[in-house]
Amino acid sequence: MTPAIGTSPTRVDGPAKLRGLAPYAMEHPLRDALHAFPIQATIARGRIGAIDTREAETMDGVVAVLTHLNAPRLAADDDNELFILQNDEVAFRGQLIGVVVATSPEVAREAAARVRVSYDESPADVVFDADRDDLYAPEDVSGGFATDTTIGDVEKALDLAPVTVDQTYTTAMVHNNPMEPHATIAHWTEDGLVLYDSTQGPHVVRSTVAPLFGLEPEQVHVIAPYVGGGFGSKGEPHANIVLAAMAARFTGGKPLKLALTRQQLFSLAGYRTPSVQRVRLGAHHDGTLTALSHDVVQQVSKVKEFAEQTAIVSRVMYASATRATTHRFAALDVPVSSWMRAPGHCPGMYAAETAMDELAVELGMDPIALRIHNEPEVDPESGRPFSSRGLVECLRTGARRFGWADRDPEPRSRRDGRWLVGSGVAAATYPADVNPGNSARVRFTGGRYEVAIDAMDIGTGTWTTLGQIAADALGVTGDRIDLRIGDSRLPAGTVAGGSSGMASWGSAVVAAAEDFRRRYGDDPADGAETTVETSKEPARENFSTHAFGAHFVEVRVDIDTAEIRVPRVVSVFGAGRIINPRTARSQFIGGITMGIGMALHEESVFDTRFGEVVNHDLAGYHIPVNADIGEIDVSWIDEHDPHVNPMGAKGIGEIGIVGSAAAVGNAIYHATGVRVRHVPIHLEDLL
Ligand code: MOS
Repeated sequence: MTPAIGTSPTRVDGPAKLRGLAPYAMEHPLRDALHAFPIQATIARGRIGAIDTREAETMDGVVAVLTHLNAPRLAADDDNELFILQNDEVAFRGQLIGVVVATSPEVAREAAARVRVSYDESPADVVFDADRDDLYAPEDVSGGFATDTTIGDVEKALDLAPVTVDQTYTTAMVHNNPMEPHATIAHWTEDGLVLYDSTQGPHVVRSTVAPLFGLEPEQVHVIAPYVGGGFGSKGEPHANIVLAAMAARFTGGKPLKLALTRQQLFSLAGYRTPSVQRVRLGAHHDGTLTALSHDVVQQVSKVKEFAEQTAIVSRVMYASATRATTHRFAALDVPVSSWMRAPGHCPGMYAAETAMDELAVELGMDPIALRIHNEPEVDPESGRPFSSRGLVECLRTGARRFGWADRDPEPRSRRDGRWLVGSGVAAATYPADVNPGNSARVRFTGGRYEVAIDAMDIGTGTWTTLGQIAADALGVTGDRIDLRIGDSRLPAGTVAGGSSGMASWGSAVVAAAEDFRRRYGDDPADGAETTVETSKEPARENFSTHAFGAHFVEVRVDIDTAEIRVPRVVSVFGAGRIINPRTARSQFIGGITMGIGMALHEESVFDTRFGEVVNHDLAGYHIPVNADIGEIDVSWIDEHDPHVNPMGAKGIGEIGIVGSAAAVGNAIYHATGVRVRHVPIHLEDLL
């Protein structure tokens, strides 16, 4: 039988989606649902003075108005982001301070506008500035990585290096903006709390929400069969879920719907913090790196620390005799930042790979040759061998597909009518992780295999690809498998995040399938069943496990207006075995598109007078549309990494965005001779 892995079945959920039968959170049909609309703070810091809810409460259809004065008390206070409506403090503008519940969404919204709040305002500290003297170093950075690392004397090596680069790069604050805004239906029943939620991980929602309401995790049932994207913003529950559950409890046994508006996402659903990154490189004339230093400053909210691990890319990419990486943070009275597609890696690689391009220019060396010249034999920091490392092959393959050999390295050397034409390259990397704590169940019933795990499909293709993995592991065709995912009552699955979803769930599914066949053979009796939980994979202790890639970008810049177009991208990835080329290509293209958005479009403009993002909708917050994206040629090298997991597959959700913004910027430099050291790059930067 032909293996299902490596084939490209179309999405099994496609027909249901097209026919409107694949409900997102808000669309689950529940009778007599109430509707809630949040009330948000309009100051950045201070205390609530008085709240006048009388006018709102007298409106027809209003069921309740909750504020800190009457809201149910939460049973746990260890997460300040989620500890809402418990006191009169305001810690950032847009914070949830109340909610109106009504019989229709329109009435709830109108009533929320009629709640009058007065404040006792305090000075707010909202200005992100890398030169602040109160920057701090956290104990570690996100993911448990060391805040700082040092190998050798990087300062001395920089002093001695004949060729150096010392530049500072900045990235804008950006917001995730999934297609489906965050939404929850909360329904208290005699068994506990049911949440239809737009999430990247029902089990995470369950374990986070339960203690807040004094429940056991099993008493919270989270249902999320289909989700319209997340990009990290639904990886951890945000306060909107707590607000929905709280309002539903207050108003009794009816289901209650709460959907954030697009504008509300900009203060309540996480974002990528702005960064200021100094990168210093030292090299011999032949391109050998002797010093590599990457210092990052970002912001965190005083409400909750998310210390983004931005410099860790510089611990893995290139060989260098000396190395230093640091992270420092400014704690501000601002909304809580969080994961956004390739947190850390994405902004970090923008700076690191722009600096490598600058070094190539300084050396008069081809940027691909420079990277290949500094390819490390083992992981530079841990000393562990790479389980597989396809960077060089990706660079070479990409160069061929792109036609790099014909390139004149001289900036501003190519012209086509009114267009200056340039090309740039950058590398990509992302960890290939497997999360422990996944559990899968295989049950044979009615001649079919039911494979169950609380995995998530956030639009990425899990409904299809996890079925392919199950089919191969059970030795049957995909049409004999009924997959069950997206429900916290299924065996535990970890979050659809960190590009670790498929690797983690798939490992559990393979383990369960193997156990099933061992116990029951390939002709099982009806009702045969097994559940297997995966333990920690040994791979990460013995190997450094990462996916790699290379982006090649062509840009055109109008000689008069500096309008920037990206007609062509060629990207090649070394990401292990590709489960489904069709859905994988889609993931890569999505990541690259978001990288182009980072390079040219996306920017949350933070008004420091008020402490809020002013362009908080898709009219003012620009993302690339179809007309902004030209040809994106995605391919991958033949790689099967037996060390990462039983599928030999590395995650692919995030690597597409990593490095792609640097490749755009490097191409713009080549086209125009102007080196811009921030993103997004605006046309006025080139005039
Ligand atoms: Mo991704 S930012 O880990 O959902």
